[in-house]
Amino acid sequence: MELNIALLPGDGIGPEVVREAVNVLKVVCEKHGHTLITQEALVGGCAIHATGWALPEDTLKLAQKADAVLFGAVGTPEFDKDPNAKQRPENGILGLRKGLEVFANLRPVKVYDALIDSSPLRPEIVRGTDIMILRELTGGAYFGLPKEKKGEKPNRTGVDTTFYTEAEVRRLMRMGFELAKGRRNKVTQADKANVMASGRLWREIAHEVAAEYPDVQYEDMYADACSMHMLRAPRSFDVIATENLFGDILSDEASMLAGSMGMLPSASLGDGRNRHGFRRGLYEPIHGAAHDITGKGIANPLATILSMAMMLRWSFGLSAEADAIERAVDTLLADGYRSGDLKSADTPSDKVLGTRAMGEAVIERLTF
Ligand code: IPM
Ligand code: MG
Repeated sequence: MELNIALLPGDGIGPEVVREAVNVLKVVCEKHGHTLITQEALVGGCAIHATGWALPEDTLKLAQKADAVLFGAVGTPEFDKDPNAKQRPENGILGLRKGLEVFANLRPVKVYDALIDSSPLRPEIVRGTDIMILRELTGGAYFGLPKEKKGEKPNRTGVDTTFYTEAEVRRLMRMGFELAKGRRNKVTQADKANVMASGRLWREIAHEVAAEYPDVQYEDMYADACSMHMLRAPRSFDVIATENLFGDILSDEASMLAGSMGMLPSASLGDGRNRHGFRRGLYEPIHGAAHDITGKGIANPLATILSMAMMLRWSFGLSAEADAIERAVDTLLADGYRSGDLKSADTPSDKVLGTRAMGEAVIERLTF
């Protein structure tokens, strides 16, 4: 198979973690006789510096032409300090999601037995957790209009708009039920139907879709309660389907079950197909640019490597290859190796690996 992949490493630790994922992919492709073609482009703060735009036209075009896109991270401190910046690095990733029409963001939260002690929560709570957060990705408060901050002191105002259409909710919920069928047959839909009209729309449509899937257990939950139950009884969840903003928040919270943001991969999918007939997708670790550790060679590349595995599965139908990568990560962790974000007080120092060594350790453990 020919894999034509656009690489958008972005800012901060993005380039460091993307490099490791590509190295893993090269080995996988060599072993299985696939041809790998990669092309790289700018996105985020680095793109603003080079072109004035967070998502230059060439970058979007490259992403739209590729079979799949691997994204690193965006964000730079100088823009965080400027509330009036016209272009922000985040416009890069938001524009990509919209431009690629990837409305469904799959964020699997798997607690590895080996990492039980990396979680701040008690082992008996987190052990065996396996949740799929399904986040709506191209609507809601992230994109709704009006969206602006305006006016002068002391009368400044800010507005964001949570707007959803029936079609947007329905396609996301259907995806949730389809996913649940291949898992443990349960969907939890998290909304704020008690205060938000958009939440009531979500709930109404979720019920209609649930009726199409009588074999899948369905429950509604308020998003605030969901955030609490996720820490109290994480094993009681299978698929959590939710709108864009709640999905953003719930998935960061869920990363603490797994031990670190550095462990959570994601796949952003739409209905579009690539030339192999599989879904075109945007694959991104859920963590950000992490400027505090950029350039130090200590970032955890596993979320990006695992995102690459999701890419092989979803955008190329290569599940054996994806399994091999996931098994290698499993073995590496079982062997006691940790990146800085995963180590605990009793991790021996010779088991703490930097970004490069972590990538190499995954490659060493690939078995086919
Ligand atoms: C994420 C990130 C992004 C988001 C930022 C970088 C725009 O937090 O992917 O979860 O809010 O969606
Ligand atoms: Mg986030």
